[in-house]
Amino acid sequence: MHAQPSAELCLQAKGITKRYPGTVALDNVDFEVYRGKVNVLIGENGAGKSTLMKIIAGIEQPTEGELRMNGRPVKLAGTRDAAAKGIGIIHQELNLFPNMTIAQNMFIGREHTRYGMLLDHDRHVEKTRDILRQLECDLDPHTPVSRLKVGQQQIVEIAKTLTQSEMQVLIMDEPTSSLSTAEVEVLFKLIRDLKAKGLAIIYISHRLEEIMRIGDYITVLRDGKLVARDEIANIDIPWIVRNMVGHDQVLSTNRPKRQPTEEVLRVENLTLRSPEGGFILKDVSFSLQKGEIVGIYGLMGAGRTELLETLMGLHPEAEGAVYLEGKPIKPTSVRNQIDRGFALVPEDRQRQGLVQPLSIAKNMTLSSLGKYFRRLFLSSKLENSSIARMIQNLYIKAPDPKLPILSLSGGNQQKVVIGKYLLTDPKILLLDEPSRGIDVGAKADVFNIIRQLAAEGVSILLVSSELKEILAYSDRVIVLSGGRLTGEFQDDQLTENNLVNASSKK
Ligand SMILES: Nc1ncnc2c1ncn2[C@@H]1O[C@H](COP(=O)(O)OP(=O)(O)OP(=O)(O)O)[C@@H](O)[C@H]1O
Ligand SMILES: [Mg+2]
Repeated sequence: MHAQPSAELCLQAKGITKRYPGTVALDNVDFEVYRGKVNVLIGENGAGKSTLMKIIAGIEQPTEGELRMNGRPVKLAGTRDAAAKGIGIIHQELNLFPNMTIAQNMFIGREHTRYGMLLDHDRHVEKTRDILRQLECDLDPHTPVSRLKVGQQQIVEIAKTLTQSEMQVLIMDEPTSSLSTAEVEVLFKLIRDLKAKGLAIIYISHRLEEIMRIGDYITVLRDGKLVARDEIANIDIPWIVRNMVGHDQVLSTNRPKRQPTEEVLRVENLTLRSPEGGFILKDVSFSLQKGEIVGIYGLMGAGRTELLETLMGLHPEAEGAVYLEGKPIKPTSVRNQIDRGFALVPEDRQRQGLVQPLSIAKNMTLSSLGKYFRRLFLSSKLENSSIARMIQNLYIKAPDPKLPILSLSGGNQQKVVIGKYLLTDPKILLLDEPSRGIDVGAKADVFNIIRQLAAEGVSILLVSSELKEILAYSDRVIVLSGGRLTGEFQDDQLTENNLVNASSKK
C-alpha cells in the first residue's frame, strides 16, 4: 500500500471533497504524487479523476481538504497561480481555437513581448517548431488548427503545455485517447525524458496496457472515493479492473457464428482523391449484410474515417458506386443519408457530436426530433422515456438529464453522443472509435448495445484501432492500408496476425 521510501513526495492532496449540485464528485480523497515518477490515476467514467486534476491545477476549488507542495500547504488561486507554482495540465477535452494557427494557440494568454508591448511572433513560431520537433511532429506552426485531425490537435495540446517553464508537476488527462501507436511511442519517450529531469507526471488513461507500461504508482478512484493504491510493479490488469468496477470483467470473445442474410449495402470502387494529389481512398469495394457487424481495421491515415464520412455524404466528390438494398444511391448530402437510414457516430465527438450550451436531454434528441413530433407538437413524455432508456442502457452517470452537457465527465459525454445516434433508429450505423475515452466496464456496455442492435437487424460498420475489440465484436473485418482494401477476413482467418499484416501491406 505504500510507496518506496526512496521516492520523494512532491505534491499531496489530503482529504479532498468536491460537491456539485446533486453530485459528490470527490469524497475525502488522498492522493500522493512523487517526483520523477509516473503517478497513474484511474477509475470509471465519472469516478472523479478530472475533478481532482482540476483542483490540483487550480481550475476548481475543493469544498474541503488541502493541497501540499513539497510538504507545505498551498492555495491555488487559479490556473496562472498553479502554473507559476510549476503545475501544468494537458486537458482531456481539446481546448484549442480552431481559427488560430498552431503557433498562436501555443502561446495564447502568455505571449512573449518585445520591449514590453509587442507580440513576438517570430519567436513563437520558432519555439513552436522546436517543441513540435521534440514531439517528432513536422506540422507547420502556421497551420490553422481547424485543418488538423483529432490526433494532431492532441499533439498540439501536449506541445502547448511544454511551453510552460519551471514545471514540477505535469498532469496528463487521457493524453493518448486519439493518438496512433507511433504517436504514443513518441509521447512515452517524452515522458521518460521528463521523468529523468525529475518531473512528477500524473497520468490518466483508460488504456490499461499503456498504464502497465508507463506507470510507476497507481491510485484507483471509484464513485469519488479512494479505493486502492500501490506500485505498478506489484499489480496486474485484473487488479485494476477489480478495483475500478468492483468485480472481474472480461471482454467476451465468443463471437457466435452468424447465418448469412440479405445484402443491405454494397460499395464498388469507392475512390476519394486528396486535394493535394494522390488518393485518400482507392477502389474500395465491399458489402454489408443485414444485422452484420463489419470491422474496419487499419493504421492512422489508412482512410477508415474517410470511408465512413464518404458513406455519410460528407465527401460528395467521391467516385464509385454505392447500392442500398440493391438500388444505386449517391451519398452526396448528409441530410439524404440520414433520411436513408445512415447514422455516423463521429470520432471527434467533443466537437462534432455535442452542442455545448444545451442540456444532456436536448443533446440526445437533437438529431432525432422528427420521431418525437406527434401532430406537430413535441411529445415530451415520449422524448423523456427514450432519454431515460438511453441513460439507463448506457449507464450514463447523470444526476439529471436537464443539466448542461458540460457537467458530465468526459466519458459520459461520449456516451451521450453514442446514445443520440442510437435514438435515430438507423438502418446502417457507422461507428468511428466508439470506445474511445470510455472505461473498461462501460466499453462492454456499449458493445453489448451494438450487438443487440445488430441482432435487431441494424447493419454496422465499426472502426476501431483496438485489435482485441475489433476481433471480439466483428463478424467480418476489412483492412485498409493507404486508402486501399488490403484484406478481408472472417471465421478462422480473423486473427490478430492477419489484420496486422494486411494493415501494413502496400
Ligand atoms: N461542473 C460540474 N457540475 C456538476 N457536476 C459535475 C461537474 N463537473 C463534474 N461533475 C460530476 O462529477 C463527477 C466526476 O466527474 P469527472 O469529470 O471528475 O470524472 P472522470 O473520472 O474524469 O471521468 P471520465 O473517465 O469520464 O473522464 C461526475 O459525476 C460529473 O458528472
Ligand atoms: Mg475525465
